[in-house]
Amino acid sequence: MADLKVQLTAPNGKTYTQPTGLFINNEFVASGSGQTITSTDPATEQDIATVHAATAEDVDKAVRAAHAALNDPKWKKLATSDRGVLMYKLAELIESNQELLATIDAWDNGKPYRDALTGDLPEAIGVIRYYAGWCDKIYGQTIPLPNKLAYTLRQPIGVVGQIIPWNYPLSMASWKLGPALACGNTIVIKAAEQTPLSILVLADLIKQAGFPPGVVNVINGLGKEAGAALVQHPLVDKVAFTGSTATATQVMKMASATLKNITLETGGKSPLVVFEDADLEEAVKWSHMGIMSNQGQICTATSRILVQKGIYDKFVARFIEEVKTTSKVGHQWDTETYQGPQVTKQQYDRVLSYIESGRQSGATVATGGQALTEIGGGKGYFIAPTVFTHVKQDMPIWREEIFGPVVVISEFGEEDNAVRIANDTTYGLGAAVFTTDLERAHRVASEIQAGMVWINSSQDCDPRVPFGGVKQSGIGRELGEAGLEAYSQIKAIHINLGNRLS
Ligand code: NAI
Ligand code: MG
Repeated sequence: MADLKVQLTAPNGKTYTQPTGLFINNEFVASGSGQTITSTDPATEQDIATVHAATAEDVDKAVRAAHAALNDPKWKKLATSDRGVLMYKLAELIESNQELLATIDAWDNGKPYRDALTGDLPEAIGVIRYYAGWCDKIYGQTIPLPNKLAYTLRQPIGVVGQIIPWNYPLSMASWKLGPALACGNTIVIKAAEQTPLSILVLADLIKQAGFPPGVVNVINGLGKEAGAALVQHPLVDKVAFTGSTATATQVMKMASATLKNITLETGGKSPLVVFEDADLEEAVKWSHMGIMSNQGQICTATSRILVQKGIYDKFVARFIEEVKTTSKVGHQWDTETYQGPQVTKQQYDRVLSYIESGRQSGATVATGGQALTEIGGGKGYFIAPTVFTHVKQDMPIWREEIFGPVVVISEFGEEDNAVRIANDTTYGLGAAVFTTDLERAHRVASEIQAGMVWINSSQDCDPRVPFGGVKQSGIGRELGEAGLEAYSQIKAIHINLGNRLS
């Protein structure tokens, strides 16, 4: 800890230097109070490393660094094309370190190494590259008027405070950093306390890429302390948050004190609707992936499956078979593993308590329904992929976000009935529709209240396509051109061209 880095060897044999400080002004520094967070491997429950945790005082330092960097000519006057060059360089550095970064996230979060390497990392690299290309293509309009001219500038918002969750540590960081940097903002980003490690290695790469000091500051810290201090800091102009809806309501309240610009990406209970005319095998495969991948810890997880009456029994039987043959639970490093452990003891307990609640309320456990203690010899937060049938729509397992490998399956009669049930939720993040009827596919996609709809698929996500929620699933959009709106503001300039006052 003293020199703010430690040598680590991961269970897959990878040895590396882990920074442990707070990254402020391109330097790793100790927390003023000496407060720390110790990260653990959720498969073995062993500690990995202890890192510095920011207090409100440290947050203030990081915000002031970002505030100063806004007016540093090395950033402010940097040609937008050269800003793009820095971002391309960063993408390249992430790419050349992708095995290391995937190792750290697999170790710290519990996700299968293969998934981190083939899913999280390409996504993070792709998003930074996508926004690198935008840097010199962000500009305003000219508006001709009689005897006048008006034009607009698209300018950065200023100092951006970003708060991310633990389910996809590096890709969530890239979704936040990419558009904010492309628009010329400066940043203080706070990682989730459950996964504090990979972002510090990323911070090192940001420095290597050549970003001026203070442009990106990376802190670890507790949500209630460092997160809250960041959201409330008067020099923070904008807050971008991904996490639970409950925390988002707190963030919105705190941000209101200085009328901060906000974007929120929160929870979901996304419906997946299977019509009788669907390709059943495709529906089974996608719906399994849509809830069981990433240990079920996906904000857009299609966690409520609605199946039309005529194929309900067949679908349920095939879905259970798919869970049993595909969703192998095990250690992150085992190439056979489909699901690793849940991220923390807290999440493990929470998911198990939802399973208990489902049982208590009279739903049927069709498969799974328990912890898998034998995998780690009594250690590790492993949970059997769980399917509930005979679920009523007033049960908590039907209504609330579980954020684990637990799915509820219910049946419906007609199309309008499916749409009504799908929309009977406070959430509106994703939704999926399985049908071979083209007209129905588009009709239902348009009627479902969600920020994203997948037709005959689930979980598609692409840097070029906007992502976000309606209702209590969020405010604003990330990714795509729409993602730039969250990080730029329009200034209008009026020019008098001979419009005399007489
Ligand atoms: P959380 O929403 O409390 O944490 C997300 C981030 O917010 C973390 O970086 C945390 O440090 C920060 N945070 C927490 N309290 C804060 C505060 N008062 N002010 C500012 N920042 C704060 O989520 P948590 O506790 O990790 O998980 C609880 C549940 O939230 C999960 O079971 C799941 O249902 C949901 N969740 C949803 C996510 C999504 O992607 N939609 C991601 C993570 C959790
Ligand atoms: Mg961990």
